Amino acid sequence: MRRQVVIVGAGPAGLLLGHQLRAAGIDCLLLERQSRARVESRIRAGVLETVTTDLLGRLGLDRRLKAEGMVEDGFNLATDDQVIRIDIKRLTGRNVTVYGQTEVTRDLIEAAPERGLEIVFKAADVAIHDVEGDSPFVTWSEAGEPRRADCLFVAGCDGFHGPSRKAIGTGAEYERAYPFGWLGILADVPPCHPELIYANTDDGFALASMRSPTRSRYYIQVPLTDRLEDWPEDRLWNELERRFSPLADRPVVRGPALEISIAPLRSYVFETMRRGRLFLAGDAAHIVPPTGAKGLNLASSDVVYLAEALIAAVRDGDPAKLDHYPARALTRIWKAERFSWFLTKLMHRFPEDGAFEHRMQKAELDYLASSEAMQTAIAENYVGLPL
Ligand code: FAD
Ligand code: DHB
Repeated sequence: MRRQVVIVGAGPAGLLLGHQLRAAGIDCLLLERQSRARVESRIRAGVLETVTTDLLGRLGLDRRLKAEGMVEDGFNLATDDQVIRIDIKRLTGRNVTVYGQTEVTRDLIEAAPERGLEIVFKAADVAIHDVEGDSPFVTWSEAGEPRRADCLFVAGCDGFHGPSRKAIGTGAEYERAYPFGWLGILADVPPCHPELIYANTDDGFALASMRSPTRSRYYIQVPLTDRLEDWPEDRLWNELERRFSPLADRPVVRGPALEISIAPLRSYVFETMRRGRLFLAGDAAHIVPPTGAKGLNLASSDVVYLAEALIAAVRDGDPAKLDHYPARALTRIWKAERFSWFLTKLMHRFPEDGAFEHRMQKAELDYLASSEAMQTAIAENYVGLPL
């Protein structure tokens, strides 16, 4: 078969790209390794910037987001003894929306057939060929049968472990691994606070988040050596209660875990986001530690730029924007990397840090509590820098 664009990966990046291309009448095919059920059940991001909510609005795919998303005018940075509210609405005029990544992907997948966006789930052994030439193609297998699609361009939206970055080969790569992970739990219990709390406590980092007035999402910092078996649910709830009961409006309510998982933290940028007719977007090209809630939102800004460039090339015969895509995307990526790294350093306990570094964190948070200038800098990064 022949397609104008083949997209590898049906996460937020691939789905948002596919819908934008379809809205411009471009013929594209999305190849996804996992089943639809698996893609729709991966619990990850929760906080959407306006770059993401506006894009869903432009695509006419925000009906459920508008009905069920929780618009947040502020969030909190806390220590053991103080809660600093960052009033993002007053400081920036904008807000963020709490709406789970699972819901975003579900909405995008559900709307795919009516928009003519073909998604092949359970596409095995996806391989990308001849991207340096004029006739790239992608091969995969479907229920054991070999398949091939020839195309004009390939978009690698297959996350950190996918084949697209490997198909680019060696490139300019920057990495920082952190000596801890986040242990997350999702449960059908009311949140302990009306807004998110990111806390740097003597016991380590903790985050109180939510999905709805009846569903909570919590995370705590754990050593990289910890396994899920080390964390029976009661142990985790005890920790959350200890860290949040002095800070939150209401008690931490316990309930059976709908999901529980550990994710390592990493900062990573692969600057070589293009090789010939292959372009990377989202986690395939960069990872941020989740502290700034930036990963999905960066995937959105990448694919806004990439869609514009692919539409100009395919529909209007103007490839110039494709040449500018990596530089344009990287300007925003590095700023989000900086913010996520800064907030991670400010809010976590690093095993190598001593008393001096703790004093520095405390002094910085004390300064933040009294400085509207610093609160504004944090607020404008949290709501998302302009496209
Ligand atoms: P992915 O979501 O990884 O999607 C890639 C897709 O490609 C997947 O469906 C995968 O199955 C598919 N794929 C992989 N290999 C192949 C292959 N060989 N063939 C075909 N398909 C393949 N971000 C935020 O913005 N806000 C938050 O609040 C936030 N919180 C987070 C909390 C946690 C605990 C974690 C882990 C992440 C969080 N993120 C957050 C980050 C966010 O989830 C990611 O940045 C986002 O999923 C990136 O989207 P993507 O489409 O680029 O990649
Ligand atoms: C959530 C995840 C984040 O990484 C974050 O910074 C805020 C909220 C969440 O899953 O709700």
